[in-house]
Amino acid sequence: MSSRPPAAGSDTDAGAVEAAVSAQIAPSPELLERVARVRTELVRRVEEAAKARGSPLVRALVAGSAARGTFLQDRLDIDLFLLFPPELPRDRLREEGLALGRAVLTEPETRYAEHPYLRGKFEGFAVDAVPGYAVSDSAHPLSAVDRTPFHQAYLTERETPETVREIRLTKQFLRAIGVYGSEARTEGVSGYLVELLIVRFGTFHALLTEARRWRIPVRLTEPDQEPPRLPENVALILPDPVDPHRNVASALSRRNLGLLILAAGAYLDRPSEQWFEIALPARLTRDDALARIQVRGTHVTVVTLPRPDLVDDTLYPQVRKAGRAIAEELTRSEFPPLGWALAVDGSRVYLVFEVPHSRRSAVRMQDGPPAGIDRVGNFLEKWTSPEAPLLQGPYVREDGSLAVETRRKEQTVEEVLRGVFPRLSLGRDLTPSDPKEVTIQPLAEVAESPGLLVALRELLDKRLPWLGRPSPSRA
Ligand code: CTP
Ligand code: MG
Repeated sequence: MSSRPPAAGSDTDAGAVEAAVSAQIAPSPELLERVARVRTELVRRVEEAAKARGSPLVRALVAGSAARGTFLQDRLDIDLFLLFPPELPRDRLREEGLALGRAVLTEPETRYAEHPYLRGKFEGFAVDAVPGYAVSDSAHPLSAVDRTPFHQAYLTERETPETVREIRLTKQFLRAIGVYGSEARTEGVSGYLVELLIVRFGTFHALLTEARRWRIPVRLTEPDQEPPRLPENVALILPDPVDPHRNVASALSRRNLGLLILAAGAYLDRPSEQWFEIALPARLTRDDALARIQVRGTHVTVVTLPRPDLVDDTLYPQVRKAGRAIAEELTRSEFPPLGWALAVDGSRVYLVFEVPHSRRSAVRMQDGPPAGIDRVGNFLEKWTSPEAPLLQGPYVREDGSLAVETRRKEQTVEEVLRGVFPRLSLGRDLTPSDPKEVTIQPLAEVAESPGLLVALRELLDKRLPWLGRPSPSRA
């Protein structure tokens, strides 16, 4: 009756696994109660501070997963939103928001997104105090966070204790396969998107049952209700119910959605608690990487730049763009990359490229005019002069046109990259003020560092994470 493979999991297995994991990750009633108390207390204290300062605060609220109980315990951040009148100039918004945050939080630290917010502590909890505008229409926000109170209202109306459990389970699964979080660094699924998906499909299991059949791009809406101006490489389209012009899944990359689709099918075929465990990534040292390259008969070149002083959400897209530009340049220069990867640490940006060979020939073929036209004279004159960097020719080719083979100065991939680097537009932020700060070296000459190892792992250790390690002969 069934076409499932023999060892495949049944829905009952999955049900037992999901119940067990749900129980493990559920916050205790005491924690939920402490969070609820802190929520009320935070709002009360902010309102008090606003009164004392004569601040134009319209409303303070805790939104996000801490307000709905949909958080994962070990990633609990309380999102406190401080809403001001739409007329308030942005510099005042920022000033007032930060001042109120400082009045109630300990160990305050200013962080930056679209505008600054404050990260601090309150009764042992990590709190983000985020200023925004109290707008009346969620489809016309003045700042990126102004839709949040509407999200809060939309979701609380539709969530039940069951959906809250399913949301946590889904977040944990996505986290374990590495696709949870909409930061530019991750390009994964945001918490809000998880909640909307569960509100729509009901359970984790039902969501995965749908997801295993998805084809990218995935449309969870009618074509005539799509948000406008979707990028060409959009992965998933789900309009925000509180602002249909915005795609809730805009941060999700095609790579991560593809991984999610495959994981959904693999999990449903063989459900187990292991799927929800966060594994430490395997280590790949520089020497391991060099051994792999040896086996693969390829070459790895490493570009490093000083890390500009930018927040991750701004930095990562720029570094990705730079990586793509360099990869294209390599393709044009006879070094088409097999793959490339990036990593960032505290002080440097790393871009690693695997290319089929470390050198190209010294010969460059230069096309000449067809025999019989006037330009032949100039061509011959140029290429018979004693200074011409000639290796062979001029000669007539099979098709009757002239050609010469000239000598190229740059033969190694590193020489080629160093040559083109000044012409590459890497953007203002990534271009170092001193060109000597850019290094371009073969992997064998680069010192090992944590950032380098992250990039090497992404370049040379690619494998669906649930398959386990390959046998040593293939490694
Ligand atoms: N938000 C959003 N779009 C994003 C990020 C955040 O609309 N890309 C809004 C959502 O309303 C979200 C709130 O900001 O609920 C808080 O953001 P965040 O803390 O990132 O997500 P949570 O939903 O709180 O999930 P998590 O458990 O990961 O904190
Ligand atoms: Mg949150």
